[in-house]
Amino acid sequence: MPARACNGGAGRGGFYRGKKILVTGGTGSVGSEVVRQLLALGPEVVRVYSRDETKQFELEQELGPRPDVRYLIGDVRDLSRLRRAVEGIDLVFHAAALKHVPACEYNPFEAVKTNVLGVQNLIEAALDEEVERVVAISTDKVANPTNTMGATKLLAERLMAAANHCKGRRRTVFTCVRFGNVLGSRGSVVPLFHRQIARGGPVTVTHQDMTRFMMSVGQAVKLVLEAGQLGRGGEVFILKMPVLRLWDLAAVMVEALAPRWGWDSAGVEITRVGLRPGEKLHEELMTEEEASRALEMDDMFVILPMVGPRARHPGAVPAQVLRYSSQDQEPLGRRQIREMLEREGLLGTGPVIRLVPRLRGEGAGAWRREGRRWA
Ligand SMILES: NC(=O)c1ccc[n+]([C@@H]2O[C@H](COP(=O)([O-])OP(=O)(O)OC[C@H]3O[C@@H](n4cnc5c(N)ncnc54)[C@H](OP(=O)(O)O)[C@@H]3O)[C@@H](O)[C@H]2O)c1
Repeated sequence: MPARACNGGAGRGGFYRGKKILVTGGTGSVGSEVVRQLLALGPEVVRVYSRDETKQFELEQELGPRPDVRYLIGDVRDLSRLRRAVEGIDLVFHAAALKHVPACEYNPFEAVKTNVLGVQNLIEAALDEEVERVVAISTDKVANPTNTMGATKLLAERLMAAANHCKGRRRTVFTCVRFGNVLGSRGSVVPLFHRQIARGGPVTVTHQDMTRFMMSVGQAVKLVLEAGQLGRGGEVFILKMPVLRLWDLAAVMVEALAPRWGWDSAGVEITRVGLRPGEKLHEELMTEEEASRALEMDDMFVILPMVGPRARHPGAVPAQVLRYSSQDQEPLGRRQIREMLEREGLLGTGPVIRLVPRLRGEGAGAWRREGRRWA
């Protein structure tokens, strides 16, 4: 994607310093990285809000004892608990969601409860508590959605924009940040391919031509925090991301990882399994209609709200009116993919939570947790 004039994305440090921040879904792949990066910026406190105490315990173990992090068990479906969680809070990052396409397809009522009603609850709690700003994490699957997950997240974006429009005299600024796949996140293809390679294959890829926008969680969250302070109300910030072909990703991982597990990479098969219900061959970051009311900066686009006032974003220029699809972008080459994986420590040296077979040959089901670094 062409780079355009920057709006001068101001430094993040000062903005978050001394703030009281709530991160819903703060134990997830995205939320926990939001927590990590925020803690480096000197907030007064970060409250981590999620349901599962074990994931909270693990994050606490990783971060160590510190007075500036609080762990709150709670569900975004529970308005009264959320009201308590936002008491005294300046900023909210909303990363709690159901994100798996097949799970949402099979359990659509649950997807609505978490992804739609959860956002409605958060809006109500934030307005009542006069929170300064709420930033909701969104996904490229909202652009022309073909599945329940994307549709519920699109509705969540619309609720956020509408909240901004209808808030009356209240000061809360509501914005969303939308991005594509996060490399190596929980339940994503990187850990899946990794496990399949460890077993000697086959590695299952949906389709030879399938493309995805893909970025490391560190890069994505850095931009999320930047967008978090640029919002003036009702915008959707879209992170520009490189595109890769999943087949190439699988091939690079097989070549690099198969020998580590004692397999000949030539013998680890990559097989095509076909699109699952609701899945697209290519993803879109932004539809043409959205592009018609969007601005462009160096690292991101800003879709201005459909209703209500549209704030100015100095330095940003009107985006080209076209569909921003992964199909139309030049995908990364295999060497670039390998470099990206190496940089993120996903080929053997970086921090990952892994499930490995006890011993090769003991059976595909025998997995155990083995720390946070590749041996
Ligand atoms: N990962 C990606 O590739 C990607 C790409 C684009 C956008 N996103 C978006 O980023 C957000 C976070 O994704 P992620 O990859 O971090 O997902 P994740 O790893 O599955 O984390 C989800 C987090 O939300 C919490 N959660 C789920 N349901 C909840 C509920 N009802 N109430 C409170 N907390 C709840 C989970 O903890 P508990 O289960 O303990 O509650 C967990 O902390 C989602 O909105 C997703 O659409 C992700």
